[in-house]
Amino acid sequence: MSNKSTKLWGGRFTEATDEFVEQFNASVGFDKRLFKHDIQGSRAHAEMLAHIGILNSHDCAEILKALDTIEAEIVAGDFEWKTELEDVHMNIEARLTELVGDAGKRIHTGRSRNDQVATDVRLYLRDAIDDIDQRLEALQNAILKIAEQESATIMPGFTHLQVAQVITFGHHMLAWFEMISRDRIRLQQCRVSTNVMPLGAAALAGSSFALDRDFVAKKLNFATPSHNSLDAVSDRDFAIEFCSFGAILFAHMSRIAEELVLWTSTQFNFIDLPDRFCTGSSIMPQKKNPDVPELVRGKTARVYANLFALLTLMKSQPLAYNKDNQEDKEPLFDTVDTVHDCVVAFANMIPHIKVNKEVLMQAAQQGYATATDLADYLVKKKVPFRDAHEVVGMTVQYAIQQNKKLDELALHELQKFSPSISEDVFKILSVEGSVASKNTYGGTSPAQVTKQIKLAKQRLAEFK
Ligand code: ARG
Repeated sequence: MSNKSTKLWGGRFTEATDEFVEQFNASVGFDKRLFKHDIQGSRAHAEMLAHIGILNSHDCAEILKALDTIEAEIVAGDFEWKTELEDVHMNIEARLTELVGDAGKRIHTGRSRNDQVATDVRLYLRDAIDDIDQRLEALQNAILKIAEQESATIMPGFTHLQVAQVITFGHHMLAWFEMISRDRIRLQQCRVSTNVMPLGAAALAGSSFALDRDFVAKKLNFATPSHNSLDAVSDRDFAIEFCSFGAILFAHMSRIAEELVLWTSTQFNFIDLPDRFCTGSSIMPQKKNPDVPELVRGKTARVYANLFALLTLMKSQPLAYNKDNQEDKEPLFDTVDTVHDCVVAFANMIPHIKVNKEVLMQAAQQGYATATDLADYLVKKKVPFRDAHEVVGMTVQYAIQQNKKLDELALHELQKFSPSISEDVFKILSVEGSVASKNTYGGTSPAQVTKQIKLAKQRLAEFK
């Protein structure tokens, strides 16, 4: 027979844990990241135990002091994390007992690691959400800055990546702004789901001690204690919700990234990124690669994968807590880190984009981007839209053959296609006239863009 188990939970065991199992089972390697929130939860729990008379005030004071010491040790890198103590919770509890003896052994009264870990993860994520929301706001401000600077800059707008109609660069930036606005709304909803306190659910059934759960919830700034103990210890849907927010955010981030990559290519040459956000090639001396947007685009893979990992992790788990849930942390932490880093990278880079206005103007003038304007012009002269579409199609074909832009055709050439065309057509065939005419609410005209920038600033100030 081997030695008896020395674990915190070893009472009923007759042999020590297998060495491999010990490693395999341990989560401290990654969940030590929760230490601040674990200590924060323990403080509130200890104070509540004193408040209801389970801990005497002396023990409570000793515990609180020791928790401060432990936190300082961890921050200073002086804390010895032990794999044999399995996770962050038991590492901290063991050190607490080392420091204050019996008082430390009382901290786990009315508590289980099941409600403890669920609380820690929620506390951790709530902080992460608040931090990320600030980063997203910074990204929105960065986007608004360029939108303002380029509110009247003309560029081609695309559908199917073919030149479609003339738009303004500021308008394109405001589209990015809208995507991120909705991501922030989703993040706020996720915060509501996260901001619920499991402590007091104990292992799964609640506790026989008269725990004051409202007291703890208040201390920890949770909106409410959880309403069902089985659900509180077992579900991780709030983490799934965060990863789902992350996945949709990255659908947007990758689209922005892709446009930045395309626009910096020699073929487009719409924008330049500052050198400090790019790298060179070790073999091709001429190259300047847009690594930052490429990496953001690439990191979308892990953000999507993390969502799928958590969905699969929770699928079919019977109530209540299962050890499977230990696997929630790495995908969640990775999503938090990836979202944070990529949003910061874009927020730092985007205000320094150099917009090549002349290239954009030339690109807008090629590709017959004002053809729809000509059709609309004919409709305003009472030509039915379908006929106008046909007429303009033939005009474009003719212009291509002549190797001319639409506004380079002479009036008599245009009139061959429709007698309804007169001198005033040239106003609408110019790219400036074209964008200015798209003056519907939320449209691309510089006047609308200016208006939407003002509204966007108000919305930012009022958000939350
Ligand atoms: N490390 C565990 C986790 O992350 C803590 C909870 C363990 N609970 C248990 N009953 N074994 O889920």
